Amino acid sequence: MIKTTVRDDDPIHHSTDCLVLFCLEEKKPAGLLKELDGRLKGTISSAFENKVFEGKPNQTFWVNTLGALGAKHLLLTGLGKAREMNGEKIRQAAGTAAKLAEKSKSKTLSFAVREGALARIKHPCPGETEPDPACPVAEGSYLALYRFDHYKSKSAEGEENADVRSVESIVLLVARAQHRAVERAAERAAKIASAVVTARDLISHPSNTATPTYLADTARAIAKKHKIACKILDRKEMEKLGMGALLGVARGSHEPPAFIVLEYFGAGKTQPPVVIVGKGITFDTGGISLKPPANMDEMKMDMSGGAATLGTLQAVASLKVKANVVGIVPATENMPGGSAIKPGDILKSMSGKTIEVLNTDAEGRLVLADALAYAARYKPKAIIDLATLTGACIVALGHLAAAVIGSDEKLIRKLSDSAGITGERIWELPLWPEHEKAIKSDIADLKNISGPAFGAGTITGAAFLKAFAGDFPWAHLDIAGTAWTGEAGPYQAKGATGFGVRLLLHYIESGAGRKKS
Ligand code: BES
Ligand code: MN
Ligand code: ZN
Repeated sequence: MIKTTVRDDDPIHHSTDCLVLFCLEEKKPAGLLKELDGRLKGTISSAFENKVFEGKPNQTFWVNTLGALGAKHLLLTGLGKAREMNGEKIRQAAGTAAKLAEKSKSKTLSFAVREGALARIKHPCPGETEPDPACPVAEGSYLALYRFDHYKSKSAEGEENADVRSVESIVLLVARAQHRAVERAAERAAKIASAVVTARDLISHPSNTATPTYLADTARAIAKKHKIACKILDRKEMEKLGMGALLGVARGSHEPPAFIVLEYFGAGKTQPPVVIVGKGITFDTGGISLKPPANMDEMKMDMSGGAATLGTLQAVASLKVKANVVGIVPATENMPGGSAIKPGDILKSMSGKTIEVLNTDAEGRLVLADALAYAARYKPKAIIDLATLTGACIVALGHLAAAVIGSDEKLIRKLSDSAGITGERIWELPLWPEHEKAIKSDIADLKNISGPAFGAGTITGAAFLKAFAGDFPWAHLDIAGTAWTGEAGPYQAKGATGFGVRLLLHYIESGAGRKKS
Protein backbone atom coordinates (compact mmCIF):
# COMPACT_ATOMS: atom_id res chain seq x y z
CA MET A 1 0.00 0.00 0.00
CA ILE A 2 1.10 3.59 -0.54
CA LYS A 3 3.29 4.87 2.27
CA THR A 4 1.10 6.66 4.77
CA THR A 5 2.07 8.84 7.71
CA VAL A 6 0.07 10.60 10.37
CA ARG A 7 1.23 14.10 11.29
CA ASP A 8 -0.07 16.81 13.52
CA ASP A 9 0.99 19.76 11.39
CA ASP A 10 -1.18 22.79 11.21
CA PRO A 11 -3.02 22.54 7.86
CA ILE A 12 -2.24 26.13 6.96
CA HIS A 13 1.52 25.67 7.09
CA HIS A 14 1.75 21.96 6.23
CA SER A 15 3.95 21.52 3.19
CA THR A 16 2.55 19.16 0.53
CA ASP A 17 1.68 19.01 -3.18
CA CYS A 18 -2.01 18.69 -2.54
CA LEU A 19 -4.00 19.33 0.63
CA VAL A 20 -7.51 17.90 0.65
CA LEU A 21 -10.15 19.47 2.83
CA PHE A 22 -13.62 17.93 2.96
CA CYS A 23 -16.54 20.34 2.90
CA LEU A 24 -20.23 20.13 3.71
CA GLU A 25 -22.90 21.28 1.34
CA GLU A 26 -23.69 24.79 2.55
CA LYS A 27 -24.26 28.36 1.47
CA LYS A 28 -20.85 29.80 2.28
CA PRO A 29 -17.49 28.72 3.69
CA ALA A 30 -17.35 28.19 7.47
CA GLY A 31 -14.74 27.26 10.05
CA LEU A 32 -11.26 26.56 8.71
CA LEU A 33 -12.56 27.17 5.20
CA LYS A 34 -13.29 30.76 6.13
CA GLU A 35 -9.77 31.25 7.40
CA LEU A 36 -8.31 29.73 4.23
CA ASP A 37 -10.58 31.97 2.17
CA GLY A 38 -9.01 34.99 3.83
CA ARG A 39 -5.53 33.82 2.93
CA LEU A 40 -6.62 33.01 -0.61
CA LYS A 41 -8.13 36.45 -1.13
CA GLY A 42 -11.75 35.33 -1.30
CA THR A 43 -11.24 32.58 -3.91
CA ILE A 44 -13.31 30.11 -1.91
CA SER A 45 -16.19 32.41 -1.01
CA SER A 46 -16.50 33.50 -4.60
CA ALA A 47 -16.64 29.84 -5.69
CA PHE A 48 -19.53 29.34 -3.25
CA GLU A 49 -21.26 32.52 -4.42
CA ASN A 50 -20.97 31.54 -8.08
CA LYS A 51 -22.03 27.98 -7.27
CA VAL A 52 -18.80 26.68 -8.80
CA PHE A 53 -18.31 24.75 -5.59
CA GLU A 54 -20.97 24.14 -2.97
CA GLY A 55 -19.76 21.02 -1.19
CA LYS A 56 -22.04 18.63 -3.06
CA PRO A 57 -21.00 14.94 -2.91
CA ASN A 58 -17.81 14.34 -4.91
CA GLN A 59 -17.72 17.94 -6.14
CA THR A 60 -14.18 19.32 -6.26
CA PHE A 61 -12.49 22.69 -6.36
CA TRP A 62 -8.80 22.91 -7.18
CA VAL A 63 -6.89 25.98 -5.98
CA ASN A 64 -3.30 26.86 -6.78
CA THR A 65 -2.28 28.53 -3.53
CA LEU A 66 0.66 30.45 -5.04
CA GLY A 67 2.42 30.41 -1.70
CA ALA A 68 -0.51 31.57 0.42
CA LEU A 69 -0.48 28.18 2.21
CA GLY A 70 2.18 25.59 2.95
CA ALA A 71 0.42 23.36 0.41
CA LYS A 72 1.02 23.97 -3.30
CA HIS A 73 -2.58 23.16 -4.06
CA LEU A 74 -5.71 23.09 -1.99
CA LEU A 75 -8.35 20.60 -3.09
CA LEU A 76 -11.80 21.18 -1.63
CA THR A 77 -13.94 18.07 -1.89
CA GLY A 78 -17.65 17.93 -1.17
CA LEU A 79 -19.30 15.46 1.18
CA GLY A 80 -22.87 16.67 0.79
CA LYS A 81 -25.33 17.30 3.60
CA ALA A 82 -24.33 16.74 7.21
CA ARG A 83 -27.43 14.72 8.08
CA GLU A 84 -26.86 12.37 5.13
CA MET A 85 -23.22 11.69 5.99
CA ASN A 86 -21.80 8.18 6.03
CA GLY A 87 -18.60 6.26 5.43
CA GLU A 88 -19.41 5.57 1.80
CA LYS A 89 -19.72 9.31 1.06
CA ILE A 90 -16.31 9.82 2.68
CA ARG A 91 -14.77 6.88 0.79
CA GLN A 92 -16.08 8.22 -2.49
CA ALA A 93 -14.98 11.80 -1.82
CA ALA A 94 -11.50 10.66 -0.79
CA GLY A 95 -11.29 8.49 -3.90
CA THR A 96 -12.36 11.37 -6.10
CA ALA A 97 -9.75 13.63 -4.50
CA ALA A 98 -7.00 11.02 -4.79
CA LYS A 99 -7.71 10.46 -8.48
CA LEU A 100 -7.59 14.20 -9.15
CA ALA A 101 -4.34 14.58 -7.20
CA GLU A 102 -2.86 11.70 -9.18
CA LYS A 103 -3.97 13.24 -12.47
CA SER A 104 -2.44 16.56 -11.43
CA LYS A 105 0.89 14.84 -10.79
CA SER A 106 0.98 15.37 -7.02
CA LYS A 107 3.64 13.34 -5.27
CA THR A 108 2.47 13.97 -1.75
CA LEU A 109 -1.23 13.91 -0.98
CA SER A 110 -2.45 15.16 2.39
CA PHE A 111 -5.88 14.85 3.91
CA ALA A 112 -7.13 16.97 6.78
CA VAL A 113 -8.99 14.26 8.72
CA ARG A 114 -9.91 16.34 11.77
CA GLU A 115 -10.85 19.57 10.05
CA GLY A 116 -13.62 20.93 7.84
CA ALA A 117 -16.64 18.67 7.43
CA LEU A 118 -15.02 15.82 9.35
CA ALA A 119 -14.64 18.03 12.43
CA ARG A 120 -18.21 19.23 12.33
CA ILE A 121 -20.08 15.92 12.41
CA LYS A 122 -20.11 13.85 15.58
CA HIS A 123 -20.56 10.42 13.95
CA PRO A 124 -19.52 10.86 10.32
CA CYS A 125 -19.57 7.15 9.49
CA PRO A 126 -22.47 5.39 11.21
CA GLY A 127 -22.48 1.60 10.97
CA GLU A 128 -18.84 1.28 9.91
CA THR A 129 -16.81 -1.15 11.98
CA GLU A 130 -14.19 1.58 12.51
CA PRO A 131 -15.80 4.83 13.64
CA ASP A 132 -12.78 7.01 12.75
CA PRO A 133 -13.36 8.80 9.42
CA ALA A 134 -9.64 8.46 8.67
CA CYS A 135 -10.44 4.85 7.78
CA PRO A 136 -12.76 5.52 4.84
CA VAL A 137 -10.46 8.39 3.79
CA ALA A 138 -7.47 6.06 3.53
CA GLU A 139 -9.51 3.17 2.13
CA GLY A 140 -11.05 5.34 -0.58
CA SER A 141 -7.65 6.72 -1.56
CA TYR A 142 -5.92 3.34 -1.72
CA LEU A 143 -8.69 1.81 -3.79
CA ALA A 144 -8.87 4.84 -6.10
CA LEU A 145 -5.14 4.79 -6.78
CA TYR A 146 -5.16 1.08 -7.66
CA ARG A 147 -3.93 0.29 -11.14
CA PHE A 148 -3.33 -3.03 -12.80
CA ASP A 149 -0.11 -2.58 -14.76
CA HIS A 150 1.59 -5.97 -14.44
CA TYR A 151 1.81 -6.38 -18.19
CA LYS A 152 3.04 -2.89 -19.14
CA SER A 153 6.75 -3.03 -19.83
CA LYS A 154 8.60 -0.58 -17.63
CA SER A 155 11.99 -0.94 -19.35
CA ALA A 156 11.51 1.87 -21.80
CA GLU A 157 11.89 4.79 -19.44
CA GLY A 158 10.35 8.01 -20.60
CA GLU A 159 8.33 6.24 -23.25
CA GLU A 160 4.57 6.56 -23.39
CA ASN A 161 4.10 3.02 -22.26
CA ALA A 162 6.11 3.48 -19.08
CA ASP A 163 3.21 3.96 -16.73
CA VAL A 164 4.64 6.21 -14.04
CA ARG A 165 2.62 6.66 -10.90
CA SER A 166 2.53 10.07 -9.31
CA VAL A 167 1.23 9.87 -5.72
CA GLU A 168 4.08 8.45 -3.65
CA SER A 169 2.91 9.17 -0.16
CA ILE A 170 -0.23 10.01 1.74
CA VAL A 171 -0.30 12.15 4.86
CA LEU A 172 -3.19 12.16 7.30
CA LEU A 173 -3.26 15.45 9.16
CA VAL A 174 -4.51 15.50 12.70
CA ALA A 175 -4.41 19.04 13.97
CA ARG A 176 -5.11 18.00 17.53
CA ALA A 177 -4.43 14.82 19.52
CA GLN A 178 -5.69 11.38 18.47
CA HIS A 179 -2.57 10.60 16.54
CA ARG A 180 -2.65 6.93 17.50
CA ALA A 181 -6.37 6.50 16.69
CA VAL A 182 -5.80 7.79 13.17
CA GLU A 183 -2.76 5.58 12.73
CA ARG A 184 -4.81 2.53 13.70
CA ALA A 185 -7.61 3.51 11.33
CA ALA A 186 -5.11 3.87 8.49
CA GLU A 187 -3.55 0.50 9.24
CA ARG A 188 -6.96 -1.09 9.11
CA ALA A 189 -7.74 0.66 5.82
CA ALA A 190 -4.48 -0.64 4.33
CA LYS A 191 -5.34 -4.21 5.30
CA ILE A 192 -8.81 -3.95 3.82
CA ALA A 193 -7.52 -2.36 0.62
CA SER A 194 -4.80 -5.03 0.28
CA ALA A 195 -7.44 -7.73 0.50
CA VAL A 196 -9.52 -6.00 -2.18
CA VAL A 197 -6.37 -5.63 -4.30
CA THR A 198 -5.69 -9.37 -3.96
CA ALA A 199 -9.13 -9.99 -5.47
CA ARG A 200 -8.79 -7.30 -8.15
CA ASP A 201 -5.38 -8.60 -9.24
CA LEU A 202 -6.57 -12.20 -9.49
CA ILE A 203 -9.53 -11.12 -11.60
CA SER A 204 -7.43 -8.84 -13.83
CA HIS A 205 -4.78 -11.41 -14.65
CA PRO A 206 -5.61 -13.19 -17.89
CA SER A 207 -6.54 -16.85 -17.75
CA ASN A 208 -3.15 -17.96 -19.05
CA THR A 209 -1.69 -16.59 -15.81
CA ALA A 210 -4.57 -17.02 -13.38
CA THR A 211 -5.14 -20.75 -13.80
CA PRO A 212 -6.71 -22.94 -11.10
CA THR A 213 -3.14 -23.76 -10.00
CA TYR A 214 -2.38 -20.04 -9.70
CA LEU A 215 -5.48 -19.51 -7.53
CA ALA A 216 -4.34 -22.41 -5.34
CA ASP A 217 -0.83 -20.93 -5.06
CA THR A 218 -2.30 -17.57 -4.09
CA ALA A 219 -4.42 -19.25 -1.42
CA ARG A 220 -1.32 -21.01 -0.09
CA ALA A 221 0.57 -17.71 0.04
CA ILE A 222 -2.27 -16.02 1.96
CA ALA A 223 -2.40 -18.95 4.37
CA LYS A 224 1.34 -18.89 4.95
CA LYS A 225 1.51 -15.15 5.49
CA HIS A 226 -1.38 -15.07 7.96
CA LYS A 227 -0.75 -18.46 9.53
CA ILE A 228 -4.07 -20.03 8.65
CA ALA A 229 -4.87 -23.52 7.39
CA CYS A 230 -5.00 -24.25 3.68
CA LYS A 231 -5.99 -27.43 1.91
CA ILE A 232 -5.86 -27.93 -1.84
CA LEU A 233 -7.58 -31.02 -3.21
CA ASP A 234 -6.32 -32.28 -6.56
CA ARG A 235 -8.23 -34.25 -9.17
CA LYS A 236 -7.57 -37.59 -7.45
CA GLU A 237 -8.85 -36.39 -4.09
CA MET A 238 -11.89 -34.87 -5.75
CA GLU A 239 -12.56 -38.22 -7.40
CA LYS A 240 -12.36 -39.92 -4.03
CA LEU A 241 -14.97 -37.54 -2.65
CA GLY A 242 -17.20 -38.13 -5.65
CA MET A 243 -17.16 -34.55 -6.92
CA GLY A 244 -18.55 -35.58 -10.27
CA ALA A 245 -20.14 -32.22 -11.07
CA LEU A 246 -16.93 -30.22 -10.66
CA LEU A 247 -14.87 -32.89 -12.39
CA GLY A 248 -17.38 -32.97 -15.23
CA VAL A 249 -16.76 -29.28 -15.93
CA ALA A 250 -12.99 -29.79 -15.63
CA ARG A 251 -12.96 -32.57 -18.25
CA GLY A 252 -12.68 -30.28 -21.25
CA SER A 253 -9.55 -28.55 -19.99
CA HIS A 254 -5.87 -29.45 -19.93
CA GLU A 255 -5.42 -27.26 -16.84
CA PRO A 256 -5.74 -29.36 -13.69
CA PRO A 257 -8.62 -28.28 -11.45
CA ALA A 258 -8.08 -27.30 -7.82
CA PHE A 259 -10.46 -27.42 -4.87
CA ILE A 260 -9.24 -24.73 -2.49
CA VAL A 261 -10.10 -24.61 1.20
CA LEU A 262 -8.90 -21.89 3.60
CA GLU A 263 -9.80 -22.12 7.28
CA TYR A 264 -9.57 -19.24 9.71
CA PHE A 265 -10.56 -19.91 13.29
CA GLY A 266 -10.44 -16.60 15.16
CA ALA A 267 -13.12 -17.51 17.69
CA GLY A 268 -12.12 -20.95 18.95
CA LYS A 269 -12.85 -24.31 17.37
CA THR A 270 -16.24 -24.84 18.98
CA GLN A 271 -18.20 -22.09 17.25
CA PRO A 272 -19.58 -23.05 13.84
CA PRO A 273 -17.96 -21.06 11.03
CA VAL A 274 -19.41 -18.91 8.29
CA VAL A 275 -18.52 -20.70 5.07
CA ILE A 276 -17.91 -18.60 1.97
CA VAL A 277 -17.99 -20.39 -1.35
CA GLY A 278 -16.72 -18.63 -4.47
CA LYS A 279 -17.10 -19.70 -8.10
CA GLY A 280 -13.62 -20.21 -9.51
CA ILE A 281 -14.03 -20.66 -13.26
CA THR A 282 -10.71 -19.22 -14.44
CA PHE A 283 -12.07 -19.03 -17.98
CA ASP A 284 -15.58 -19.71 -19.24
CA THR A 285 -15.76 -20.49 -22.96
CA GLY A 286 -19.17 -22.04 -22.41
CA GLY A 287 -17.76 -25.49 -23.14
CA ILE A 288 -19.47 -27.43 -25.93
CA SER A 289 -22.38 -24.97 -25.60
CA LEU A 290 -19.79 -22.47 -26.82
CA LYS A 291 -20.22 -18.76 -26.19
CA PRO A 292 -20.20 -16.26 -29.08
CA PRO A 293 -16.83 -14.53 -29.63
CA ALA A 294 -17.84 -10.93 -28.72
CA ASN A 295 -16.41 -9.98 -25.31
CA MET A 296 -15.48 -13.56 -24.53
CA ASP A 297 -12.18 -12.17 -23.20
CA GLU A 298 -14.11 -10.85 -20.20
CA MET A 299 -14.78 -14.43 -19.13
CA LYS A 300 -11.39 -14.40 -17.42
CA MET A 301 -13.37 -12.72 -14.64
CA ASP A 302 -15.52 -15.81 -14.07
CA MET A 303 -13.48 -16.57 -10.95
CA SER A 304 -14.44 -13.26 -9.30
CA GLY A 305 -16.42 -15.06 -6.61
CA GLY A 306 -13.37 -17.17 -5.83
CA ALA A 307 -11.16 -14.09 -5.82
CA ALA A 308 -13.52 -12.33 -3.40
CA THR A 309 -13.48 -15.43 -1.20
CA LEU A 310 -9.67 -15.44 -1.00
CA GLY A 311 -9.70 -11.66 -0.44
CA THR A 312 -12.21 -12.01 2.40
CA LEU A 313 -10.13 -14.69 4.11
CA GLN A 314 -7.08 -12.44 3.77
CA ALA A 315 -9.04 -9.56 5.29
CA VAL A 316 -10.38 -11.44 8.30
CA ALA A 317 -7.02 -13.09 8.98
CA SER A 318 -4.96 -9.91 8.65
CA LEU A 319 -7.40 -8.01 10.87
CA LYS A 320 -7.54 -10.90 13.36
CA VAL A 321 -11.33 -10.79 13.44
CA LYS A 322 -12.88 -12.79 16.28
CA ALA A 323 -14.91 -15.10 14.09
CA ASN A 324 -14.59 -18.44 12.34
CA VAL A 325 -14.57 -18.29 8.59
CA VAL A 326 -13.94 -20.95 5.96
CA GLY A 327 -13.38 -20.10 2.30
CA ILE A 328 -13.96 -22.64 -0.45
CA VAL A 329 -13.09 -22.13 -4.11
CA PRO A 330 -13.83 -24.84 -6.67
CA ALA A 331 -11.48 -23.85 -9.49
CA THR A 332 -11.36 -25.05 -13.08
CA GLU A 333 -11.57 -23.83 -16.67
CA ASN A 334 -14.72 -24.45 -18.70
CA MET A 335 -13.41 -25.56 -22.09
CA PRO A 336 -14.66 -27.50 -25.07
CA GLY A 337 -12.50 -30.47 -26.02
CA GLY A 338 -12.50 -34.13 -26.93
CA SER A 339 -13.22 -35.16 -23.37
CA ALA A 340 -15.56 -32.31 -22.51
CA ILE A 341 -19.06 -33.00 -21.20
CA LYS A 342 -21.80 -32.67 -23.79
CA PRO A 343 -25.41 -31.47 -23.57
CA GLY A 344 -27.47 -34.33 -22.23
CA ASP A 345 -24.66 -35.88 -20.20
CA ILE A 346 -25.52 -36.84 -16.64
CA LEU A 347 -23.13 -36.20 -13.76
CA LYS A 348 -23.23 -37.53 -10.22
CA SER A 349 -22.45 -34.86 -7.64
CA MET A 350 -20.79 -35.32 -4.26
CA SER A 351 -24.18 -35.03 -2.55
CA GLY A 352 -25.32 -38.12 -4.48
CA LYS A 353 -27.78 -36.12 -6.57
CA THR A 354 -27.54 -36.67 -10.32
CA ILE A 355 -27.55 -33.75 -12.76
CA GLU A 356 -28.56 -33.71 -16.39
CA VAL A 357 -26.37 -31.09 -18.09
CA LEU A 358 -28.58 -29.50 -20.74
CA ASN A 359 -26.25 -26.57 -21.30
CA THR A 360 -22.53 -26.81 -20.59
CA ASP A 361 -22.41 -23.01 -20.27
CA ALA A 362 -24.38 -23.26 -17.02
CA GLU A 363 -21.18 -24.60 -15.43
CA GLY A 364 -20.94 -22.35 -12.38
CA ARG A 365 -23.80 -24.09 -10.61
CA LEU A 366 -22.16 -27.45 -11.31
CA VAL A 367 -18.87 -26.63 -9.61
CA LEU A 368 -20.73 -24.87 -6.80
CA ALA A 369 -22.94 -27.92 -6.24
CA ASP A 370 -19.95 -29.92 -5.05
CA ALA A 371 -18.49 -27.00 -3.11
CA LEU A 372 -21.78 -26.45 -1.27
CA ALA A 373 -21.97 -30.15 -0.41
CA TYR A 374 -18.42 -29.91 0.94
CA ALA A 375 -19.37 -26.78 2.94
CA ALA A 376 -22.00 -28.79 4.83
CA ARG A 377 -19.17 -30.76 6.48
CA TYR A 378 -18.50 -27.74 8.68
CA LYS A 379 -22.08 -27.62 10.01
CA PRO A 380 -21.84 -23.90 9.29
CA LYS A 381 -23.68 -21.07 10.98
CA ALA A 382 -24.23 -19.71 7.45
CA ILE A 383 -23.18 -20.47 3.89
CA ILE A 384 -22.72 -17.54 1.54
CA ASP A 385 -21.79 -18.19 -2.05
CA LEU A 386 -20.53 -15.60 -4.52
CA ALA A 387 -20.66 -16.29 -8.22
CA THR A 388 -20.65 -14.59 -11.59
CA LEU A 389 -23.48 -16.97 -12.33
CA THR A 390 -25.80 -15.46 -14.90
CA GLY A 391 -25.88 -12.88 -17.67
CA ALA A 392 -29.54 -12.49 -16.68
CA CYS A 393 -28.42 -10.83 -13.45
CA ILE A 394 -26.87 -8.01 -15.50
CA VAL A 395 -30.15 -7.64 -17.39
CA ALA A 396 -32.05 -7.40 -14.10
CA LEU A 397 -29.79 -5.15 -12.01
CA GLY A 398 -27.12 -3.85 -14.36
CA HIS A 399 -23.76 -3.14 -12.78
CA LEU A 400 -25.24 -1.35 -9.78
CA ALA A 401 -26.12 -4.25 -7.49
CA ALA A 402 -25.57 -7.94 -7.01
CA ALA A 403 -28.61 -10.18 -6.72
CA VAL A 404 -29.14 -11.96 -3.42
CA ILE A 405 -31.32 -15.03 -3.10
CA GLY A 406 -31.39 -17.27 -0.07
CA SER A 407 -33.16 -19.49 2.38
CA ASP A 408 -32.82 -17.36 5.48
CA GLU A 409 -34.45 -13.96 5.91
CA LYS A 410 -32.24 -12.92 8.80
CA LEU A 411 -29.07 -13.69 6.88
CA ILE A 412 -30.29 -11.72 3.87
CA ARG A 413 -31.24 -8.78 6.08
CA LYS A 414 -27.81 -8.74 7.70
CA LEU A 415 -26.07 -8.93 4.35
CA SER A 416 -28.28 -6.10 3.07
CA ASP A 417 -27.32 -3.97 6.08
CA SER A 418 -23.62 -4.56 5.37
CA ALA A 419 -24.21 -3.80 1.69
CA GLY A 420 -25.74 -0.45 2.55
CA ILE A 421 -22.82 0.51 4.73
CA THR A 422 -19.99 -0.67 2.48
CA GLY A 423 -21.56 0.61 -0.74
CA GLU A 424 -21.43 -2.90 -2.24
CA ARG A 425 -25.12 -3.01 -3.08
CA ILE A 426 -27.23 -6.14 -3.14
CA TRP A 427 -30.89 -6.57 -4.09
CA GLU A 428 -33.10 -9.51 -3.23
CA LEU A 429 -34.85 -11.64 -5.82
CA PRO A 430 -37.48 -14.25 -4.92
CA LEU A 431 -37.18 -18.02 -4.99
CA TRP A 432 -40.51 -19.81 -5.17
CA PRO A 433 -41.40 -23.53 -5.14
CA GLU A 434 -42.21 -23.25 -8.87
CA HIS A 435 -38.57 -22.38 -9.55
CA GLU A 436 -37.41 -25.45 -7.68
CA LYS A 437 -39.85 -27.62 -9.59
CA ALA A 438 -38.65 -26.22 -12.88
CA ILE A 439 -35.20 -27.79 -12.55
CA LYS A 440 -36.43 -31.32 -11.96
CA SER A 441 -35.11 -33.52 -14.76
CA ASP A 442 -37.08 -36.21 -16.56
CA ILE A 443 -34.28 -38.77 -16.27
CA ALA A 444 -31.99 -37.44 -13.50
CA ASP A 445 -32.62 -35.71 -10.16
CA LEU A 446 -31.97 -32.23 -11.50
CA LYS A 447 -31.23 -30.47 -14.76
CA ASN A 448 -28.94 -27.47 -14.89
CA ILE A 449 -31.27 -25.10 -16.77
CA SER A 450 -35.03 -24.52 -16.91
CA GLY A 451 -37.34 -23.05 -19.50
CA PRO A 452 -37.98 -19.34 -20.11
CA ALA A 453 -41.45 -19.57 -18.56
CA PHE A 454 -40.01 -19.15 -15.08
CA GLY A 455 -38.46 -15.74 -15.63
CA ALA A 456 -35.02 -14.64 -14.56
CA GLY A 457 -32.30 -17.22 -15.16
CA THR A 458 -30.68 -15.78 -12.05
CA ILE A 459 -33.38 -17.40 -9.95
CA THR A 460 -33.10 -20.73 -11.77
CA GLY A 461 -29.39 -20.72 -10.93
CA ALA A 462 -30.15 -20.05 -7.28
CA ALA A 463 -32.88 -22.72 -7.18
CA PHE A 464 -30.31 -25.22 -8.44
CA LEU A 465 -27.77 -24.20 -5.78
CA LYS A 466 -30.40 -24.42 -3.04
CA ALA A 467 -30.67 -28.15 -3.67
CA PHE A 468 -27.07 -28.50 -2.49
CA ALA A 469 -26.93 -26.03 0.40
CA GLY A 470 -28.65 -28.41 2.82
CA ASP A 471 -30.68 -26.98 5.68
CA PHE A 472 -28.08 -24.43 6.69
CA PRO A 473 -28.92 -20.73 6.44
CA TRP A 474 -27.74 -19.96 2.92
CA ALA A 475 -27.48 -16.91 0.69
CA HIS A 476 -26.32 -16.75 -2.91
CA LEU A 477 -24.87 -13.56 -4.37
CA ASP A 478 -24.90 -13.34 -8.16
CA ILE A 479 -22.08 -10.88 -8.82
CA ALA A 480 -22.07 -11.17 -12.64
CA GLY A 481 -22.80 -7.45 -12.98
CA THR A 482 -20.80 -6.04 -10.07
CA ALA A 483 -17.52 -7.97 -10.30
CA TRP A 484 -16.44 -6.14 -13.42
CA THR A 485 -17.12 -2.60 -14.60
CA GLY A 486 -16.77 -0.84 -17.93
CA GLU A 487 -16.95 2.50 -16.17
CA ALA A 488 -14.62 3.92 -13.56
CA GLY A 489 -16.14 5.05 -10.24
CA PRO A 490 -14.89 7.37 -7.47
CA TYR A 491 -12.64 4.66 -6.00
CA GLN A 492 -12.80 2.23 -8.83
CA ALA A 493 -10.85 1.86 -12.08
CA LYS A 494 -12.33 0.18 -15.15
CA GLY A 495 -12.23 -3.60 -14.86
CA ALA A 496 -12.14 -5.73 -11.73
CA THR A 497 -13.91 -4.30 -8.67
CA GLY A 498 -13.10 -6.85 -5.97
CA PHE A 499 -16.82 -6.75 -5.10
CA GLY A 500 -17.76 -8.79 -2.05
CA VAL A 501 -14.63 -8.49 0.07
CA ARG A 502 -15.69 -5.38 1.98
CA LEU A 503 -19.32 -6.52 2.14
CA LEU A 504 -18.48 -9.92 3.63
CA LEU A 505 -15.85 -8.50 5.96
CA HIS A 506 -18.45 -6.13 7.36
CA TYR A 507 -21.00 -8.92 7.68
CA ILE A 508 -18.51 -11.16 9.50
CA GLU A 509 -17.29 -8.39 11.80
CA SER A 510 -20.86 -7.44 12.74
CA GLY A 511 -21.41 -10.94 14.07
CA ALA A 512 -17.92 -11.43 15.47
CA GLY A 513 -17.45 -12.06 19.15
CA ARG A 514 -21.09 -12.90 19.59
CA LYS A 515 -22.77 -16.26 19.95
CA LYS A 516 -24.64 -18.02 17.19
CA SER A 517 -27.05 -15.63 15.47
N1 BES B 1 -20.17 -16.93 -16.39
C1 BES B 1 -21.42 -16.91 -17.04
C2 BES B 1 -22.30 -15.74 -16.59
C3 BES B 1 -21.79 -14.37 -16.93
C4 BES B 1 -22.16 -13.74 -18.09
C5 BES B 1 -21.00 -13.69 -16.02
C6 BES B 1 -21.71 -12.47 -18.37
C7 BES B 1 -20.56 -12.41 -16.29
C8 BES B 1 -20.92 -11.80 -17.46
C9 BES B 1 -22.17 -18.21 -16.73
O1 BES B 1 -21.39 -19.33 -16.57
C10 BES B 1 -23.07 -18.45 -17.89
O2 BES B 1 -22.59 -18.69 -18.96
N2 BES B 1 -24.36 -18.43 -17.64
C11 BES B 1 -25.34 -18.67 -18.65
C12 BES B 1 -26.41 -19.54 -18.05
C13 BES B 1 -27.37 -20.07 -19.05
C14 BES B 1 -26.69 -21.07 -19.98
C15 BES B 1 -28.52 -20.74 -18.32
C16 BES B 1 -25.90 -17.34 -19.09
O3 BES B 1 -26.06 -16.44 -18.27
O4 BES B 1 -26.13 -17.19 -20.29
MN1 MN C 1 -20.98 -20.28 -18.41
ZN1 ZN D 1 -19.49 -19.03 -15.97
